[in-house]
Amino acid sequence: MKILAVAVRKGGVGKSALSFMEARHLAWSGLRVLAIDIDDQGHLSKPIRRSGKAVVADLTADRLFTDPEAAVPVAPFVLVPAGPGLAKLERQHENRNAFANNFRSALRRASASFDVCVIDTPPGVDIRLVAALVSASHVLSPIQLSDQSIGGIVQLLKDPQVGIERIKERLNPELTFLGILPNMVERNPNQAKGMSDLLGNPGYFSRLFSLVDEPKSAADICRIPKREVIRECHTEGLLPHEWKDKTAARDVWKELRPVLDRIGVRMGVMA
Ligand SMILES: Nc1ncnc2c1ncn2[C@@H]1O[C@H](COP(=O)(O)OP(=O)(O)OP(=O)(O)O)[C@@H](O)[C@H]1O
Ligand SMILES: [Mg+2]
Repeated sequence: MKILAVAVRKGGVGKSALSFMEARHLAWSGLRVLAIDIDDQGHLSKPIRRSGKAVVADLTADRLFTDPEAAVPVAPFVLVPAGPGLAKLERQHENRNAFANNFRSALRRASASFDVCVIDTPPGVDIRLVAALVSASHVLSPIQLSDQSIGGIVQLLKDPQVGIERIKERLNPELTFLGILPNMVERNPNQAKGMSDLLGNPGYFSRLFSLVDEPKSAADICRIPKREVIRECHTEGLLPHEWKDKTAARDVWKELRPVLDRIGVRMGVMA
């Protein structure tokens, strides 16, 4: 089982919307998908429940941290939903290692039953984020084209204790950083500047999530536009091709599908 953590240390950039769309898209494509919501806001759980497409586990995700024997049900598409206990984990400092170990072991036990697991993470540094990074095979970081959002990536990568580079070196050598994925991209001068800053900086350019293995130009870089259909689909639990306004949805799906497919390809679960 490949494990995707959607993570960045910045709120409101589209982690939950992206986790939701990717989990549903992979399941719709015929893969066995486990979706885990470790953010107590529940913005991955709510739309998946609403879609009616997944079996909802009767344990909440906090149990994956606290119960060394927690077991997830087996079905083609399973959601382990958020629960209020998630917000309390960080305060129990003395149990941090046990929480991370329990979470990692729960995923190992589930690994024969699923092709891929998608984890939506909270925006702050928290034992939940660390446990997800220690357990994941891949990380993807949506951002908005703003300075703070790009700063959130630098922190996610470089933090001396809990940054991806440190975790990879010390705890999880298998972890692959898939890249930075600009989301809610709009055509305005501010965003155009943000995009050209990213494209013009070799340190960032090489880390942008791209449509091809060796990106050469801006056209090779993935981005998700800001579209009302995406926001409404996230609320309603739908993928754009299921949306009622077929014309608007068709255009959005044309832009979105190659990105969602590429994530599957980079994780080795799609051809
Ligand atoms: N490409 C997009 N176009 C339009 N709306 C979007 C897009 N991506 C996300 N949204 C909407 O923006 C809002 C914030 O997105 P989301 O909840 O996914 O962010 P988040 O990073 O998970 O936030 P948090 O840090 O609070 O968990 C949501 O209403 C979501 O549906
Ligand atoms: Mg979220």
